[in-house]
Amino acid sequence: MISKNMEKALNEQVNWEFYSSYFYLSMSSYFASSSLAGCANWMRVQAQEELFHAIKIYDYINERGGRAILEAIAKPPFEWKSPLHVFEEVMSHEQKVTGLINGLVNLAVDERDHATNNFLQWFVAEQVEEESSVASVMEKFKLIGKDKSGLFAIDLELAKRVFVPPAK
Ligand SMILES: [Fe+2]
Ligand SMILES: [Fe+2]
Repeated sequence: MISKNMEKALNEQVNWEFYSSYFYLSMSSYFASSSLAGCANWMRVQAQEELFHAIKIYDYINERGGRAILEAIAKPPFEWKSPLHVFEEVMSHEQKVTGLINGLVNLAVDERDHATNNFLQWFVAEQVEEESSVASVMEKFKLIGKDKSGLFAIDLELAKRVFVPPAK
């Protein structure tokens, strides 16, 4: 059984993960309308991953005797200045989420809730991966600057990303 406090904190994270999915789907649409189908694909896969994260926490809350409560999802931004600008926002968003996950771990430690701490370690590892994959895309955009053929090459590469549901 999780504490009421933990239940509330995990529910807030469910909302953050759904919002993250919305955020990336909005970016996907932006890229689709900018004729960057590969970037749109990358963001769409990212959005699917975030949905998976939301459901993973939702299931955990219910499994531990709590109740997942779905709140309204905030409207995400929909305009950006450039592809690099989009990925910079992805990076700051992921850093924010990493901080939120760390906060949840701190709460689990404070409450001596070892099961939730253990559950959250999956997200701790996931955030390391998220930040590193975004950093590598960002580096590529910085490298090409305003070069159109570079942009074309990155778009082709990002088109290859496929959603693989992580093992439970
Ligand atoms: Fe996430
Ligand atoms: Fe994420």
